[in-house]
Formats: sequence, structure tokens, C-alpha cells
Amino acid sequence: MIISSATDFREAARRKLPPFLFHYLDGGAGAEQTLRANVDDLQAVKLRQRVLRGSEQLDLGVQWFGEDYALPIALAPVGLAGMYARRGEVQAVRAACRHHIPFIQSTVSVCPLAEVAAQASKPIWFQLYVLKDRDFMRDVMRRAWELGATTLVFTVDMPVPGNRYRDAHSGMSGANGPMRRVLQAMLHPRWAWDVGVFGRPHDLGNISAFRGNATGLADYIGWLGANFDPGIAWQDLQWIRDEWKGRLVIKGILDPDDARDALAFGADGIVVSNHGGRQLDGALSSAAVLPSIAEAVKGKLTIFADGGVRTGTDVFRMLALGADGVLIGRAFVYALATQGQAGVERLLAIMEKDIRTNMVLTGVKSLREVGPQLLAR
Ligand SMILES: Cc1cc2nc3c(=O)[nH]c(=O)nc-3n(C[C@H](O)[C@H](O)[C@H](O)COP(=O)(O)O)c2cc1C
Repeated sequence: MIISSATDFREAARRKLPPFLFHYLDGGAGAEQTLRANVDDLQAVKLRQRVLRGSEQLDLGVQWFGEDYALPIALAPVGLAGMYARRGEVQAVRAACRHHIPFIQSTVSVCPLAEVAAQASKPIWFQLYVLKDRDFMRDVMRRAWELGATTLVFTVDMPVPGNRYRDAHSGMSGANGPMRRVLQAMLHPRWAWDVGVFGRPHDLGNISAFRGNATGLADYIGWLGANFDPGIAWQDLQWIRDEWKGRLVIKGILDPDDARDALAFGADGIVVSNHGGRQLDGALSSAAVLPSIAEAVKGKLTIFADGGVRTGTDVFRMLALGADGVLIGRAFVYALATQGQAGVERLLAIMEKDIRTNMVLTGVKSLREVGPQLLAR
């Protein structure tokens, strides 16, 4: 099939993956209203077309925390990415490094930090959940630091897991899950061979490194379920700010007051995010809240945003709404599932071209010039 966009990668991934994996990636919480709103609200953002402004020498580079990056994009933390392609996190980090952008490794990655860091030509960013097991948190932060991670992305919008109805239908959870997953794998031989057989161990590498025994996919839900901490509050997190010597980014901010709290807490950055519509169904989309959050904290910390980004134009829209950087989640995993590292690189090249074209058509030479003045009202 012809692939020229993330939408094509999604369709190719749908064909290749066992349904339980495709729907785990593709789905959201509840009736998936927030998931849809992320995409719809972003696509509804209109840009001002400007002409004859001499945009020939384009600068697509950005600087975050004193480091230069080639594009305003980072690969979002996606748990279980290693189930979508053989040693998926390794392939993704290689693609990110080739494009000089950050790869953010999830706490619940299949590949352990050491395996990913060994393949990265740039420092990785590590994502951490708030978990009851503080010894695990300390241990994994120490390992990330020793492996050269510069930035800790601390996800706070998952004190409890969202209710994802699709997972019960797809076999990811619910009755007969294990049997259905095996059956689906057998019916998807390309995936079964590449990832099911050669992508092993199917482990949660960071967790087994701590617990000292291999934890399979079935253990994933159990360990995480027992470890979410709904009682957590800002004051309980101070030890993390004190302990982590690198940059700290709080992920999962959707309200200007929480953005101000993150600033007061001492965060270096935030990710405006509703976890890709996987947590509070009925929450506003990232595109809808971003301008008010930018108004509250722009220039005081680095604002990243994610949710519904499928094209370079969507990246551009997020910047126009007030973001300093944009995370892509599902889009890169559709590409990873389809073509591995080459797929992610191809997606990034497609997005880069979109951004370049948009810069010319909106009359800007540098991404520093992209802001609310480019919004057509
Ligand atoms: C399958 C899947 C797994 C995810 N796992 C994590 C995770 O482990 N940690 C985290 O902070 N966010 C996680 N997220 C949320 C993403 O980091 C990101 O916020 C979201 O995917 C952005 O929306 P988009 O997919 O529309 O780009 C996950 C998202 C998906 C789709």
C-alpha cells in the first residue's frame, strides 16, 4: 500500500498487528470523546496564509533546556512500544537520534533503559510514573541518571488507570484474554514472526531489572494496578525535585492553575496533555486548553503539548497555540509497527516537509516566529 502520511501508517499497522495490540494503541478511555476531540480540535485550528515574505532560508531548529534539536518534535513515552516492533524502543531511539530529536522512554517499556541508552547517540529522556513503590522510583531514576538521561518526564495524569472499553473487546483484557491473544498472534504471522518470536524477551525491562525476575505481559497490568497512587499530591513529590539532578518536566497538565502549580513546584517544563484521551474521557482537548496555559506560564518554563498530532501541520498548529515543543505518540508507533526504525524516520521526514512548507506559506523563517499571530480568527 502507498504510504504518505500517519493515516496510511495507521491503516498499515491495523492490518499487520494482532487486534489486541492495535486497539490498545489506537483506543482511548470511555466513549473516546476526548480522544476524538484531540484530533478534531487541532484540525479545526486555522492558520493565516501570508504571501511574498521572502521565506527561503528556513530554520526548523529549536532549543530546549540549552540543547539544540533539529525539529520541534519529541517521541512521546509509549508503554509497550517493544510489542509493536522487534525491540521497538531501540528502533525508535535510533530513528529519533538520526533526526536529532529526543526519544522519551516510558517506565513501562519492553526494552530496559540500558539496552536503549546503548543504542542512543544522544542522551535519552526518561518518563516516570508516580508509583507507590518509592524504592522502584528511586532505583530507576538512579539508573536513568547513570545511563546519561538528562531529562525526567514525570507523568502525573495517571493516579489511576483510565477505563478503556476497547481493551475488553480486543482481548487485551477481560475473559479469555490470553487465549485470544495467542489466537490473534497466529492469525498475524508477520507480527508473530518478527516480534512474537524474535522480539523476545517480552518483558517490562525496567521493572524486571528492579524486581530481579522476568515479568511478562500478564504481569504488566497486575504490577502497575497495584502500584498506582491516587493519594499523591504536590507536596509528596518534593523529594523527586530534590533528588533528580537533571531537568524535570511534568506531563499531564490540562489546567492553567495546575500549570502555575508546576511552576511553583520548580518544574523546568510541562507537557500539556490528557494522555492522548486515555484517562479522563470528557476532559478538554490539548488544543483547546493550550492557549490559556500559555497565557499563564509562557516564557517561565518550557511548554510541550501532545494529543491528536498526526501531521507536520498539526505540529505547527500546536506551536501557533503556544507550545515550545510537540510530542507525538500514536503516530510514531503506527509507523514503528509498520516499518520499524525506517517507518519512524519516514514519518519524521514527512512531518518535517509539512513544517517546512507551512513556514513558507505562513511567511516565517524561524520557528521562533510561530505563535498566536499566525492563527486565523
Ligand atoms: C499505547 C499508549 C501507551 C502510552 N504509554 C504512556 C506511558 O507509558 N507514559 C506516559 O507518560 N504516557 C503514555 N502514553 C501517552 C503518550 O505519551 C502521549 O501523551 C499521547 O499518546 C499523545 O497523544 P497522541 O497519541 O494522540 O499523539 C501512551 C499512549 C499510548 C497511545
